[in-house]
Amino acid sequence: MPTVVIASPKGGAGKSTAAILLGTELAHAGASVVMLDCDPNHSLTLWADRAPLPDRIKVLSNVTESDIVRTIKQHDTDGQIVVVDLEGVASRLVSRAISQADLVITPMRATTLDATIGVRALQLIAEEEEALDRKIPHAVVFTMTKAIRSKQHSGIAESLAAQGVDLINPPLMERAAFSALFEFGGNLRNMPAQGNMDGAIENAALFAQAVYKRLAEGG
Ligand SMILES: Nc1ncnc2c1ncn2[C@@H]1O[C@H](COP(=O)(O)OP(=O)(O)OP(=O)(O)O)[C@@H](O)[C@H]1O
Ligand SMILES: [Mg+2]
Repeated sequence: MPTVVIASPKGGAGKSTAAILLGTELAHAGASVVMLDCDPNHSLTLWADRAPLPDRIKVLSNVTESDIVRTIKQHDTDGQIVVVDLEGVASRLVSRAISQADLVITPMRATTLDATIGVRALQLIAEEEEALDRKIPHAVVFTMTKAIRSKQHSGIAESLAAQGVDLINPPLMERAAFSALFEFGGNLRNMPAQGNMDGAIENAALFAQAVYKRLAEGG
């Protein structure tokens, strides 16, 4: 079963949030999900320690450069989806994770600075594709998107599309419930209400469905 790697060298791009939303929504939909915390800052582990983990989710902490490939291969078995959360850097660990991916997702705020740095993730993927002589499906998801889209956002979306980058629709909107995941742990469905919960759940579910569709289609 597939491995989804969440990667961007840009710190604070929304990687861990996207990883948690993806993992919890896939588990809610019935999948068994193994989440690998490969970030020395332990964002996923902090989330996991806040509350009992939702059903069908396992979190493995402290996955390092030396055991990432083995760990993915061990868990990438029938009936499980592996979600890998990485530190906001370019490193050998990141490249190794990308090398094992069935899909790489790059979360990106739609600002010029974030897009400029975030696009470097696409270069890392291209390097792995070259080294391995295989295509690694990848997609960008805009994060922390505001209800009213700026011109900058539209310009960056157009520029990525012109480069042939696969953009996941819907983007992850800026939502109190998403940032509160780190406060309460668990998933959106068992969290005390934060803002528009129905909207947040719908956004997360549609995002996870868009990712799942790509996995089912083989990227
Ligand atoms: N869609 C969103 N809506 C509201 N807040 C968000 C959203 N996405 C991320 N955040 C907040 O932005 C901050 C950074 O997000 P997150 O930790 O997911 O980024 P990251 O890319 O994993 O960062 P790092 O590079 O440090 O690992 C966190 O405080 C998180 O709660
Ligand atoms: Mg993170």
